[in-house]
Amino acid sequence: MSYNLRPDGSVEYIGKKIPRAALPPDVGVAQGRSAEATDAYLESKLSHPEYAADPSLARGQERAKDAGMPEIAVSAMQGQMLSVIAKGMGAEKVLEIGTLAGYSTSFLAKALPSHGQIDTIEFSPVHAKVSQQNFLDTDLFPFPTVHVGAALDVLRDPSGAFASPPGTEQGLPLEKRGYDLVFIDADKENYFEYWIEALRLTRKGGVIILDNAVRGGRIVSEENDQPDIDVTGLRKVYDWVEQDAGKTVLMSGIQTVGAKAWDGFAIAVKL
Ligand SMILES: C[S@@+](CC[C@H](N)C(=O)[O-])C[C@H]1O[C@@H](n2cnc3c(N)ncnc32)[C@H](O)[C@@H]1O
Repeated sequence: MSYNLRPDGSVEYIGKKIPRAALPPDVGVAQGRSAEATDAYLESKLSHPEYAADPSLARGQERAKDAGMPEIAVSAMQGQMLSVIAKGMGAEKVLEIGTLAGYSTSFLAKALPSHGQIDTIEFSPVHAKVSQQNFLDTDLFPFPTVHVGAALDVLRDPSGAFASPPGTEQGLPLEKRGYDLVFIDADKENYFEYWIEALRLTRKGGVIILDNAVRGGRIVSEENDQPDIDVTGLRKVYDWVEQDAGKTVLMSGIQTVGAKAWDGFAIAVKL
């Protein structure tokens, strides 16, 4: 469908109007299309040589597989989306909760200036070790600091790296400033606690991104009262944002289909 501008400034639509699909995957599947193939197409077209197409990232994924780690990293295009956001906002200081083998960490680190800082928190020492091997292989600069431990313990340790309340203003030196960007991608049951910690540690104007924010629509399950630890934390985050009524954050939730099935991201800016 294309558009013609009429002399009076109004717009005329030319061509066949395609009705909007109720649920794109249903319609696409019926026509022989798949979300996975579409992801592969986008990846083949959009992978940047220094980001998604950097061969060391694929080697890192192989290293993770060889170490018996689960294949639950973000997809290539999701990782590159993190790079786009970090680079686009000029992020210099990034925190990630949930490292795995450092795939998403690498996308974030690549988007930072060389004087930047990236911290990532990982529960499993095995995952942390593989991620560090991957960071060396990718030759990341700034080199991510992996904090090993249960994220809440690490974040709340009174003598730890995250203890002192950071300055919330923009433009402070890195060591005094809150994070420009926080990416939450660890155990779902603690998502609400991670959200509160992320708010504490993010500067004003900083961005917080939560992965797995939709869980195949289970966030709106009719069995709302049934404990489903995969989404109860998320619902608490959304309840918090609703009750905040726009005072602290501006947030959006985006559903995704593709290599990672039906899920989504929630993305917020701290006001
Ligand atoms: C989905 S994976 C992270 C994927 C990674 N962000 C990526 O896309 O490449 C979740 C990671 O969080 C870690 N994790 C789980 N519970 C945790 C906790 N309580 N504290 C810190 N890390 C945790 C897991 O060991 C796993 O490596």
